[in-house]
Amino acid sequence: MSKDLIRLRRPVEDDIASFLVWSQDTELGTLMGWEYPREEEEIRDWLFNKTQNRDRRFFIIEYDSKPIGDIELCNITWRCGKAELKICIAEKMYWNRGLGTRAINLILEDAFDSLGLHEVYLRVYEFNKRAVHTYEKAGFLLKGFLRRKDPNWHEIWLMSLTKARFRKSRERIGA
Ligand SMILES: CC(C)(COP(=O)(O)OP(=O)(O)OC[C@H]1O[C@@H](n2cnc3c(N)ncnc32)[C@H](O)[C@@H]1OP(=O)(O)O)[C@@H](O)C(=O)NCCC(=O)NCCS
Repeated sequence: MSKDLIRLRRPVEDDIASFLVWSQDTELGTLMGWEYPREEEEIRDWLFNKTQNRDRRFFIIEYDSKPIGDIELCNITWRCGKAELKICIAEKMYWNRGLGTRAINLILEDAFDSLGLHEVYLRVYEFNKRAVHTYEKAGFLLKGFLRRKDPNWHEIWLMSLTKARFRKSRERIGA
């Protein structure tokens, strides 16, 4: 599987069809802690909001010209140079093939090289081992724990990656 076939692009009207399918997948909601809207009109509004705010950069993850998920930097605080990362590869047949790592690296390049941010952080359920491992591979470090007030009281890990650490890891791999 060539990781060169992956790209991040802005959402378009045709993507609504993909979100309509993905919103039916309850496992994604469990892993992420939130769910995609389920109605066409809601998805349209949701996507519109994603692209209008100055404090976020939202992209569709495309592999071999097919939408497979989405990734975003949100809650960007320009003054502090920080943003939160969220990702979902919704097409499960593409899990564990290195594409999440590649998409994360692409958005981190954007965050640190183009947007001039200094730190990217994220929240992940401790039970989501695949995601935790993926973030660790990308260089994220565990910073603390939060607990979510839901019936199961799942633990949430707060992880972060600084620009300096990202650059150092890229030098190491010669990127
Ligand atoms: C989490 C996610 C973005 C990762 O993307 P991906 O393309 O599957 O990840 P990659 O293939 O780049 O890396 C996955 C790594 O996790 C490892 N892994 C898979 N299952 C695992 C498990 N149960 N425990 C530990 N590691 C696991 C894989 O072996 C791989 O590591 P390796 O390259 O060292 O072998 C993607 O699976 C996804 O979107 N999942 C659903 C939504 C979600 O959980 N989003 C994150 C919310 S915080």
